[in-house]
Amino acid sequence: MSVSGLDSKPYTRNLIPGESVCWEVHRKLNGIEYRYWDPNRSKLAAFLVSRGKTFPFEVKSTVLYLGAANGTTVSHISDILPDGRIFAVEVAKNPFRELLAIAEKRGNIIPILEDANHPEIYERLVGQVEIMYQDISQRNQTEIFIRNSGMLKPGGTGYLMVKARCIDVTASPTRTFEQCGMELESAGFKTVEMVKLDPYQKDHAAFVVRK
Ligand SMILES: C[S@@+](CC[C@H](N)C(=O)[O-])C[C@H]1O[C@@H](n2cnc3c(N)ncnc32)[C@H](O)[C@@H]1O
Repeated sequence: MSVSGLDSKPYTRNLIPGESVCWEVHRKLNGIEYRYWDPNRSKLAAFLVSRGKTFPFEVKSTVLYLGAANGTTVSHISDILPDGRIFAVEVAKNPFRELLAIAEKRGNIIPILEDANHPEIYERLVGQVEIMYQDISQRNQTEIFIRNSGMLKPGGTGYLMVKARCIDVTASPTRTFEQCGMELESAGFKTVEMVKLDPYQKDHAAFVVRK
């Protein structure tokens, strides 16, 4: 989110002033510390600077985040919802260790070391959330999103960050995005917007859907 008084780039207000997550630039305005949210490192920041409009994240929002990695984007969402909760699922142990270290300092992140292909393992812990966000570079990424969507409240917002080349290296990204949109609609989602993330994230698109 751009902060008036700073430049037009995205920043989030640092939940833990003085603490850095990934060596990001910090700026101060009126005594408040903000962290630069890099669109080259976060698809949600790329979505915002690419004129994506939907942004339901609020102070108390609940979020299921699939493909949390080392917590770069998770940490910015954590800045935005100080009284909310982010259930952050990651399957790989190395990035998960870094995610854990971040979660120890930020009380609104619940890290879950699991495979998002198996939501039945963590769905009781998560319950129902208002926002589901997925950034998993796997061939079956749309299927994983649909499989986890039982945890998204009716009327909730889903973000699926699609990496076209992961689904099919031979097809054009445009064709893959169309296919992905059709699969989401067939699963009962309504597409709110689809935003291409080039040049920040090559051959990626953000699908925003409503359940
Ligand atoms: C592109 S990175 C995510 C970057 C992160 N969302 C960010 O913006 O900070 C994709 C992550 O998805 C994880 N991943 C891949 N398959 C997964 C699965 N089946 N379940 C959970 N995480 C998975 C990978 O280990 C990797 O850390």
